[in-house]
Amino acid sequence: MAELRHLVSIDDLSLAEMEAIFLKAREISEDLTGWSHLCQGAITATLFYEPSTRTRLSFESATQRLGGGVITAADMRNSSASKGESLADTVRVVSSSYADLLVLRHPSEGAARLAADYAGVPVINAGDGSHEHPTQTLCDLYSLWVEHGHLEGLDVVLAGDLRYSRTIHSFAYALARFGANLVCIPQHGFELPPYVVKRLREEFGVEPIRASGRRLGDLAKSSDVVYLTPQKPHQLSLFTDAKGKAQDIQHVHAVYMTRPQTERYASGGSAESEEYMQLGKNTMAAESLKDAVVMHPLPRRDEISADFDSDPRGIYFKQAARGVPVRMALLAAFLGKIDVFDAEPKLALEVRRGEKDELRCPKESCISRTELRHADTKYKLISRVPLQVACAYCSHEIQVGAVGCRTTQEWHAPNSPQLKKVRPEEMAFFADVKEAEDRGFQAAPGLSEAEREPAPPVL
Ligand code: NCD
Repeated sequence: MAELRHLVSIDDLSLAEMEAIFLKAREISEDLTGWSHLCQGAITATLFYEPSTRTRLSFESATQRLGGGVITAADMRNSSASKGESLADTVRVVSSSYADLLVLRHPSEGAARLAADYAGVPVINAGDGSHEHPTQTLCDLYSLWVEHGHLEGLDVVLAGDLRYSRTIHSFAYALARFGANLVCIPQHGFELPPYVVKRLREEFGVEPIRASGRRLGDLAKSSDVVYLTPQKPHQLSLFTDAKGKAQDIQHVHAVYMTRPQTERYASGGSAESEEYMQLGKNTMAAESLKDAVVMHPLPRRDEISADFDSDPRGIYFKQAARGVPVRMALLAAFLGKIDVFDAEPKLALEVRRGEKDELRCPKESCISRTELRHADTKYKLISRVPLQVACAYCSHEIQVGAVGCRTTQEWHAPNSPQLKKVRPEEMAFFADVKEAEDRGFQAAPGLSEAEREPAPPVL
């Protein structure tokens, strides 16, 4: 039997699979009402632990246009979650005889990954905290693809709250994989998180380099944000260039604006108190932006002024409308009604399950911190030598200070070449040497002074 597929991260789809979904979406959009035979009788459950308008309604509309039905828990705070039910238990129940597919939105990062571990049907991530929002990305890529005919080589400005916008994170990963260039113009203090930049560099081969926003006019008026300074790599602009050189950004194909994600600010503070970026007719007057489409996942507040709505470059409402055919194609694929999946699904990064005594993800908003009974310690191995690991739920990098080998009961430094000989299933990860030794591991023989040095902190 074919392996059950889920859409938790945009990485779960190959480029060919995404393109097949775009082609199907385009075909569907030619006659939206002509597909009611395709998924007749299928039931989608929409479980939303956070507010939503477009995502939930477009999934529900898409299911119904395909001839299926919907059961919805639009406000999971009114469900058994308020009685203390775990996400894992809810998912086990709803994915039994209730529904053929789950669409989940949740405030904790990694929630969809956990749900996929417990579900007997495909799980689609409709947003997990500030981590990912892969179906929005499909809608966004599809919109760019319809507007420009291709994705490779496009120069796309990512603007606004790049730190907490999950739509930005999934979009940036996918754009990088399709060979598009990213020009980051964050709201001051809301740069891409270091773990996202690291993934872009190490997994997707994007080089952050210095770029000049001189030609971008007011859009880049806080010009420090379009330069990468090696001392402060978190204040970055990403601009991939074949020669790897700093250069002026001459011509932009799309500006993707985002809302300040105030609900995710720990202090409950708001970005409105400081001057927030605003895009309008004046900002878009720069020569380099004359053909740039303006996109936004919506809802918007003031970051795109209403006077821009009549400008033909503003495609954000079209972008939202395209969510229905894209999600119809996606649902049909995950319900097994159209054939878009590669015969050999690509291998995701190796995942290793840890034991109870090992290092847990430090990120407070990670689902593994709240679903303690149901979430294993689970790591993605980014690299074995030197050892680099990320949480398999929320993708955050985990700083490992010592790596035990359960067979020899010896610990190694994370940068030790000897780790080549330790198979992932034998490994045990600890915060530091003391933890490893407290758990009975001895220093591996031949440890050099350099290997005894503590690993540098992650930025
Ligand atoms: C986005 C989200 O929920 O992340 N909305 C959406 O799904 N279209 C963007 C946002 O809320 O700012």
